[in-house]
Parts: sequence; C-alpha cells; structure tokens
Amino acid sequence: MIKIALGSDHAGYLLKEKVKKFLIELELEFKDYGTFKLDSCDYPEYAYKVGQAIVSGEADMGILVCGTGIGMSITVNKIKGIRGALANDIETAQLSRLHNNANVLCLGGRILKEEEAKEVVKTWINTSFEGGRHQKRLNLITQLTGL
Ligand code: RB5
Repeated sequence: MIKIALGSDHAGYLLKEKVKKFLIELELEFKDYGTFKLDSCDYPEYAYKVGQAIVSGEADMGILVCGTGIGMSITVNKIKGIRGALANDIETAQLSRLHNNANVLCLGGRILKEEEAKEVVKTWINTSFEGGRHQKRLNLITQLTGL
C-alpha cells in the first residue's frame, strides 16, 4: 500500500487537515509532518521534511499545502529525486502523474475549496505514470540538472 507524507504551513493547515480526513476515508496510509497548528510558520521546513521522507523511502508520495502551493513546489523541487507538481485543478494533477511522474502534489490552501481539493487528490493518487517518451524526458531532467 502506498504511504503518503503530508505537510503544510499555517496557510495550508486547514486544508491539510481536510485532506488527511479524506485519506482516512480512502483507507490510505499517511504520516503527517506538520505543521500542527495555525500559528505562522515557514513552508520550506515542511517541504523539506516531506521531500526527505520520500527520498529516504519512508513515504512513496507527498502532499504539501501552503497558501498557493507555490512556495512548497519551489522548495521541494530543489531536492534530488523529487518531482513536485503545483496542481490546483484536476487536469493538471492528472497530467502531472501521466507525464511527469510527480511524486509530490502541491496545493493552495487559499485557492482550493475542500471538495475541489478532494477531487484533485483522488485523481492524483489514482493516476499512473505513462512512461515511454515521458521517461526519456525525466531522465533528461536528471542528466541536465543533476537533480
Ligand atoms: C504564507 O503567507 C504564504 O506566503 C505561503 O503559504 C505560500 O503561499 C507561499 O508560497
């Protein structure tokens, strides 16, 4: 069973809690890396924790929530082995799995309503990488950037 690492800053906290409830409904295994309260905090800390959980093998995939999803995606994509996708809509979430084999989904807590976020998360989790020409391009990312 896939294990999902979850993280947010204060601006993503409430949506992260809703996503967590949804993962429980879906009977998926997860670990929450914080934040655990609404007090102001710094998104890079949580993006880093979730990224490390994936590269260490502790988790298979990650979901990060900040105000827009942008700060989380910028940070997590600086970790070797992470392919973070900022996807605040269903089609982007689906394509991020089909074409990019994204292993982290970044969401905007100030952008998405609960029902929209649930659809995005469900689609992202249930979509598989297509491989083929897309794998060649992922290899090229590593070859060109070393990440
Ligand atoms: C926090 O106010 C906000 O800047 C942060 O959650 C995120 O949206 C950054 O990209």
